[in-house]
Amino acid sequence: MLDRYNRKINYLRISVTDRCNLRCSYCMPCEDFVMLDHSEILRFDEIVEVVRRGADMGITKVRLTGGEPLVRSDVTELVAMIAAVGGISDLAMTSNGVLMEKFALPLAQAGLMRINISLDTLDPAKFRRLTAGGDINRVLRGIEAARKAGLEPVKLNCVIKSSSLEPDAVAVKNFGRENGMEVRFIHQMDLGGGEFSIVEGGEGGDCERCNRLRLTADGNVKPCLFSDLAWNVRQLGAERALKSAVNCKPRCGTTCNHNQFYNIGG
Ligand code: 5AD
Ligand code: SF4
Repeated sequence: MLDRYNRKINYLRISVTDRCNLRCSYCMPCEDFVMLDHSEILRFDEIVEVVRRGADMGITKVRLTGGEPLVRSDVTELVAMIAAVGGISDLAMTSNGVLMEKFALPLAQAGLMRINISLDTLDPAKFRRLTAGGDINRVLRGIEAARKAGLEPVKLNCVIKSSSLEPDAVAVKNFGRENGMEVRFIHQMDLGGGEFSIVEGGEGGDCERCNRLRLTADGNVKPCLFSDLAWNVRQLGAERALKSAVNCKPRCGTTCNHNQFYNIGG
């Protein structure tokens, strides 16, 4: 399907939960924040219905995000349900890798094709500080498990403050090069401040070429990360919510004050 600016919309990013087992300083708000009530979070059958209607309208690529998608129970079952939808030729996930050692093989068997794992530093102490307690060794074992399970390619997502020449970013780049993994550098963004930029090595952030829609864990179809526009699939049904989002997709992002990364997905 084409939007008003003739962009072909074929990519749906689905946040399956707003929960996460890490607390990255740039992602979670500092003040107390309210998690979605479980009743607000879409069930698997509701998510799959959105994917089906999306596929009817030309969606071919799906990525599961969070929060952390692997903290949603039985997420491999959801992967299998989405993999079975006709027309979805690319099924990926973005994960922090903490639980990947256990999940990599079941995910691959369920039909997940490829994975992006977040890795901002290789320094264990810094990692622990940045994520408020995370163990980098679990992530490294998770990356290895993903490669062994045949999730191909495994890419690394590295959030940078201002430049991919920062020492932590260079270390991640070298780690990727030594192990045959691409690294995507994502500038740290502030959704409310409308500060966004393109992803180095990826395709996000380039408004003219944007091909994506987002589905939040509580069922809002968002046409743009940097916008408060949203249509809820429970209120409108999947087809109308998707069509509205495509038809109203802004030419370029501005600001988003209602969401943060942990509840829209990175
Ligand atoms: N700026 C940029 N990317 C972010 N992510 C989370 N918070 C931010 C932020 N403030 C992205 C990162 C991370 C993924 C889960 O979400 O890419 O790897
Ligand atoms: Fe969790 Fe990813 Fe946010 Fe870190 S950036 S808190 S791993 S969702």
